[in-house]
Amino acid sequence: MEQTTISYKSMAPQNIAVIGCSGAIGSALMHQLAAIHPDATIYTFSRSDPKEYSENIIHTKIKYESEISIESAAMKASEYLPLDMVIVATGILHDEVLMPEKSLKDLSAEKFIHLFSVNSVLPAIIAKHFVPRMNKKKRSVFAALSARVGSISDNEMGGWYSYRASKSALNMIIKNVAIETARKNKQAIFVGLHPGTVTSYLSEPFQSNVPKEKLFTPEFSAKKLIEVLEKLTSRDSGKFFAWDGEEIEP
Ligand SMILES: NC(=O)c1ccc[n+]([C@@H]2O[C@H](COP(=O)([O-])OP(=O)(O)OC[C@H]3O[C@@H](n4cnc5c(N)ncnc54)[C@H](OP(=O)(O)O)[C@@H]3O)[C@@H](O)[C@H]2O)c1
Repeated sequence: MEQTTISYKSMAPQNIAVIGCSGAIGSALMHQLAAIHPDATIYTFSRSDPKEYSENIIHTKIKYESEISIESAAMKASEYLPLDMVIVATGILHDEVLMPEKSLKDLSAEKFIHLFSVNSVLPAIIAKHFVPRMNKKKRSVFAALSARVGSISDNEMGGWYSYRASKSALNMIIKNVAIETARKNKQAIFVGLHPGTVTSYLSEPFQSNVPKEKLFTPEFSAKKLIEVLEKLTSRDSGKFFAWDGEEIEP
């Protein structure tokens, strides 16, 4: 029994980073990881301060548009220990001026570039600085929140050009990072995650068409995503999984 406890503790993540911890899902992930792993340090980053902290959370503000700020975040999170888990919970679908496109006539280069810069480029630059700081001596996981609508094979409805394309690009970036890193860090796992349809600012304008039982709380989604992360093996690296563990074809 003692042996089991020791080996579980040595497997459990000790050093975790959550980027985008002010979002609905990022915040729920931050709190649940802090509770599940009380002996771990949870380094959290967002543009604003979270409303609540646990003792094992160390929060720092980040400027996503500054690569220096992202590099500093990675250095801070790995100052004492390499990273066992990195979660990128950032992403946008709409904002005050931008709504997802229903048809080609709604496309705007400026809005397209903005969505790509948040949903695809930002996670890639985060990977650039956080991945070299991941643990090489034991299993580590890097997960970015993607979206099922980023699956090309699953696209039956069309629309949402820039969001869909930016998440498809994110899935490709994850796959690339997995291939490249497998050569240097065999125990690192890289995945995209679909959290389900979750109550948040991001989903708010689109919730009315979602059946009640399919609209998750951020807490439920975070719990399911953490269960998925715990079960991943190196064979899963580069793939894309839904909240219930189902693999989604790219
Ligand atoms: N909610 C859903 O139904 C749903 C479904 C599929 C996929 N997802 C994905 O899940 C992720 C989190 O979504 P959520 O529902 O938690 O949304 P949310 O509550 O609106 O949170 C948005 C997150 O994105 C960051 N963000 C917002 N605007 C940004 C900008 N202009 N530049 C950079 N970062 C920005 C925020 O960062 P700060 O923490 O710094 O504020 C926050 O972490 C997204 O990638 C989304 O695509 C969500």
